[in-house]
Amino acid sequence: MKDTKRIHPAVVGRTVSIVGIGSYVPDRILTNADLEKMVDTTDEWITTRTGIKERHIAAPDQASSDLGAEAARRALADAGISPEDVDMIVLGTITPDMGFPNTACFVQAKIGARNAFCFDIEAACSGFLYALEIGRQFVSTGTMETVLVIAAEKITSILDWKDRNTCVLFGDAAGAVVLRARGAAHGVMSSVLGSDGTLAELLMLPGGGSRYPATEETVRQRLHYMKMAGREVFKHAVTNMSRAATDALRSSGLGTDDIRWIIPHQANLRIIEAIGERLGVGKDKVVVNLDRYGNSSAATIPLALDELYRQGKLQKHDKILMVAFGGGFTWGASVVEWDK
Ligand code: ACO
Repeated sequence: MKDTKRIHPAVVGRTVSIVGIGSYVPDRILTNADLEKMVDTTDEWITTRTGIKERHIAAPDQASSDLGAEAARRALADAGISPEDVDMIVLGTITPDMGFPNTACFVQAKIGARNAFCFDIEAACSGFLYALEIGRQFVSTGTMETVLVIAAEKITSILDWKDRNTCVLFGDAAGAVVLRARGAAHGVMSSVLGSDGTLAELLMLPGGGSRYPATEETVRQRLHYMKMAGREVFKHAVTNMSRAATDALRSSGLGTDDIRWIIPHQANLRIIEAIGERLGVGKDKVVVNLDRYGNSSAATIPLALDELYRQGKLQKHDKILMVAFGGGFTWGASVVEWDK
């Protein structure tokens, strides 16, 4: 197993806080009963093996940037910050609107963040935590004042609706946070990030890049859909998320008793429960919403964080541990003090 890396809390630099948060899910809901009519599956199998009951599906004319822009508008409104004050947009996605330009640029145009520079980060389901740490670095050093971190996925656009192994697991969503230095005591307290590219083939979208550019043959071979070795991914997810969470906690100087909420990437309830057990924390601390949204890749964590916030479940100074795992493989964990 590769080491979990490597970024430790800001020993120098400014403390960086989440000063605004927002999320968006499309209106249309696809239930397990709907899926029973599409592939050879059952509500019972999906519920017991994954914990998912339903997921939201973007409209045909919605792309990831449309979802991301709405989440971004809500995060900026929550922060009381004008789009023109945003210096930088970093957006995590594996379902960009196009090969290029980057999806963050499309969001910039939609929300009118005309003073920002914009780029995407591709770290699959870990994309939000990677983007959060990148944004934190820019604000911490004082290079940027206001950074918009977005995770936006129209993940259903890369699903093979004939493959029951994958199509039942995912849903579309976006989440966004605004980062600023606010002189708070803690803010983003620690981040650890890791990757293991030797296991890339266990979870990938092979077609459409420079390895297998789109041809009639790649389409015929269904290479433009996500491929996943579920059982293998499951094992690596539990091991690496548990370790990353432990490392991030250690790095922040906190123990599990200090943590109010753990927000794991929402891929599978059994993965989430296994991590909770390994960390030795009660279920009351572990956030679960995948029953209603499925796995929205990079967007699961900001979506869950925003739900907690909107439900009034976050108190100032609550410590939150977020942990993710995804294709690459990539993984990461961050500890944040909520200081809104
Ligand atoms: N309905 C009914 N049966 C199914 C379905 C389905 N939707 N999907 C698979 N099965 C069958 C399989 O064909 C298999 O049948 P077989 O034994 O006759 O071959 C059986 O169920 C068991 O299959 P497993 O793959 O062993 O099932 P498992 O319990 O591992 O659950 C799952 C599969 C849900 C995919 C699980 O392995 C999982 O959640 N893996 C991790 C996914 C993940 O974490 N992804 C994170 C990153 S995603 C990203 O980065 C984009």
